[in-house]
Amino acid sequence: MFQIILRVLWLLSEQKKLVTSLVVCNFLFAILILIEPVFFKEIIDILISFSKDNVDQYNKLTQTLILWIIVGLTTIGIRLFVSIFSDRLAHNNVEKSVFSFFNHTLNLSMRFHMNSNSGQLVKKITKGVDGIFETQLNTFRRALPNIFTIIVLLPTVLYFNIKMGSIVICMWIVSGVVTYFLSTYTFSRQENIEQIYSNMSSHYGDTFSNMPIVKSFTLFSLKNKQLQKLTDQRISEQFPILTWWGVIVSFSQVLRIIVSIVVIFFGSFLYTQWEISVWEIVMFLSFALIFLSAVEDLTWTLEGMFWRLAGIKDYFKILDTPIEVQDKPKAKKLRGVVGNICFENVTFSYDEKRKVLQDINIDIKAWEKIAFVGHTGSGKTTMTNMLLRFFEPQEGDIKIDEQSIYNVTQDSLRKNIWIVFQDNSLFNTTVLENIRLDTKATRKDIERVAKKSHSSDFIKNLSDGLDTVVGERGVKLSGGEKQRLAIARAFLKDAPILILDEATSALDAHTEKYLQSSFDELMKGRTTFIIAHRLSTIMKADRIFVFDGWKIVEQGSYDQLMKIKNGKFTKLVEAQTKGFIE
Ligand SMILES: Nc1ncnc2c1ncn2[C@@H]1O[C@H](COP(=O)(O)OP(=O)(O)OP(=O)(O)O)[C@@H](O)[C@H]1O
Ligand SMILES: [Mg+2]
Repeated sequence: MFQIILRVLWLLSEQKKLVTSLVVCNFLFAILILIEPVFFKEIIDILISFSKDNVDQYNKLTQTLILWIIVGLTTIGIRLFVSIFSDRLAHNNVEKSVFSFFNHTLNLSMRFHMNSNSGQLVKKITKGVDGIFETQLNTFRRALPNIFTIIVLLPTVLYFNIKMGSIVICMWIVSGVVTYFLSTYTFSRQENIEQIYSNMSSHYGDTFSNMPIVKSFTLFSLKNKQLQKLTDQRISEQFPILTWWGVIVSFSQVLRIIVSIVVIFFGSFLYTQWEISVWEIVMFLSFALIFLSAVEDLTWTLEGMFWRLAGIKDYFKILDTPIEVQDKPKAKKLRGVVGNICFENVTFSYDEKRKVLQDINIDIKAWEKIAFVGHTGSGKTTMTNMLLRFFEPQEGDIKIDEQSIYNVTQDSLRKNIWIVFQDNSLFNTTVLENIRLDTKATRKDIERVAKKSHSSDFIKNLSDGLDTVVGERGVKLSGGEKQRLAIARAFLKDAPILILDEATSALDAHTEKYLQSSFDELMKGRTTFIIAHRLSTIMKADRIFVFDGWKIVEQGSYDQLMKIKNGKFTKLVEAQTKGFIE
C-alpha cells in the first residue's frame, strides 16, 4: 500500500524545488499550530497575576498578543501557499500521467491489444490518473500537515510534562497500529472489487460497441442479467470492507472521547500532587485535541487515498507491462525501399499450443503482384502480421531489399507498407480527416484521391460532403463506402508495399469491377499482396501461393496452378465455380 503511494510521489521527482518548499512549509505549519496553546497559556498566566499599575505586565501582554497575531498571519500565509501550490503541482503532473499511460499503451504489442479490452483500458487510465492526482494533492494538502503535527507534538508534550506526554504517545501508537492493520487488510480486499469494476467497464464497452447485435437479437435481458451478476458480486465484496472502514472511522472518533477523559483524569491526579497547574491541563487538552484532529483528518485522508489505490495499482500494472515488439538499440530507418521481399524459414505460432506457419520461404521481386489463397484460418493474414511486425516469428527472418525488418525501426517499416482491410475501421471524425490521417495533404489532394478511389460520388451525397462526421468506427457509412475511403487513404499514403486483405469482399460485383481500374492504378509500381477468397480478385496476380496445414503447398501463376491435376488450387477453383453454378 505505502509502496504505491511512494511510487505516486516519486512521479514528482522532477519538481524537487516545489516539493521541498511544500514539505518545509507543512513542517513550519505544524510548528506554528502548536505554538497557539502556548500563547494561550502565557496570556492566561499574565491575566491571573495582572495588576493595572504594573506597566511591565501591560507591555508583556501587548507583546504576546502582537506575536500571536504575527504567528497567526504567518500560519495563514503558509496554509495559502500549500493549498495553491500543491494543487498546481498535482495538476502539472496529470498531463505527464496521461501521456505516459497513453504512449506506453500505444507501444504495447498487438498481442496485448488483442487480449485486452478498450473499456477496461479507458477505465484504467481514467481511474489511475484521477487516483494519482488526488494522492499527490492530498499528500501535500492534508496528509503531511497532519503527520508533521503528530511528529512535532511528541517532543512538545514530552517537553512540557513527561508523564502527560507519555500518555499521549501511548495513545498515538495504539491508534497508529490499529489504523495500519485495518487499512492494510481492507486494501487487499479492495483489489478484488477493482477487478469487478474493470469487468463492469468491459461489459459496458462490449455491449455499447455491439449495439446492432444487442438490438437485433433483443439481448437486453441477457445483458442486464450479466450486469446484475457483476453488481451483485460488487455489493457482496464491498459491504465487508465498508464495515471495516466504519470500524476505523468510529475508532478515531471514540479515541477523541477516550483521550479527553484520560488527559483530564491524569491531569487532575497530577494537579493534586502539585506537579501541574490548571492552565497546563488546559494546554494539554488543547494539544490532545490538536493531536486527535490530526489523527482523524489523517484517517479520512488515508481513506480517500485508499479507495483509489487499487485503481492506481491497475494503472501501474499497464505501465509495467513490457513492450513485446521493440526496436533494437540503434536500429536504423528502413531506407530506399524498392519492394523486394523475402520470407526466410519463417515459423510462427500465436501461442505454444497451436502452430500457424512453419518454415515459410518466399522470394518476392519488387512490383510483383502476389496472391495468398487458402481456406479460412490457414495463416494468410498472419503472413501480413509478420511483415508489419505486429508479431515476431519464433524462427526465421523477413527482409525488405536485403534489410532485415528486425534491424530497422518499426515506424520506418510501417511507413513503407499500406494495408486495406476487409473491415476498415474509421475514426469518429470527418471523411476528410479520415483520409488525411497524419499526412499533410491539402483539401485538393483529398479530392483527387477520393476521385481515384471512386468515392467522390457518394461523398458528394453526404450531408456535409468531405466534412461529414462518419460516427464511431464509421457506422454511418456502408461497408463498401468505408472500403473506398480505405483505398483513397492508400492512394494518399503512396507506400511501395501494398497489402489488400480481402479488400474487395465488402463490394458488390458491379462496384468491384468498377473499382478494378482504381486497384490496377494503385498496384502499379508497388509490391502488392492480395489476400482474397474470391478468385476473380486474384486472377491477375503474377504468382499465387496456396496455404494449407501451416505451409505453402503450391505456388505459380493462375495458369500454372490450374494445370496441376487434383491440386489444392484446382480444387478450390472447382469448389467455387460449382458453388456459383449451383
Ligand atoms: N491474435 C491471435 N491469437 C491467437 N490465434 C490467432 C490470432 N489471430 C489468428 N489466430 C489463429 O491463427 C490462425 C490463422 O489465422 P489467420 O487470421 O492468419 O487466417 P486467415 O488465413 O487470414 O483466415 P481468413 O481467410 O478467415 O481471414 C487461425 O487458426 C486463427 O484462429
Ligand atoms: Mg485473414
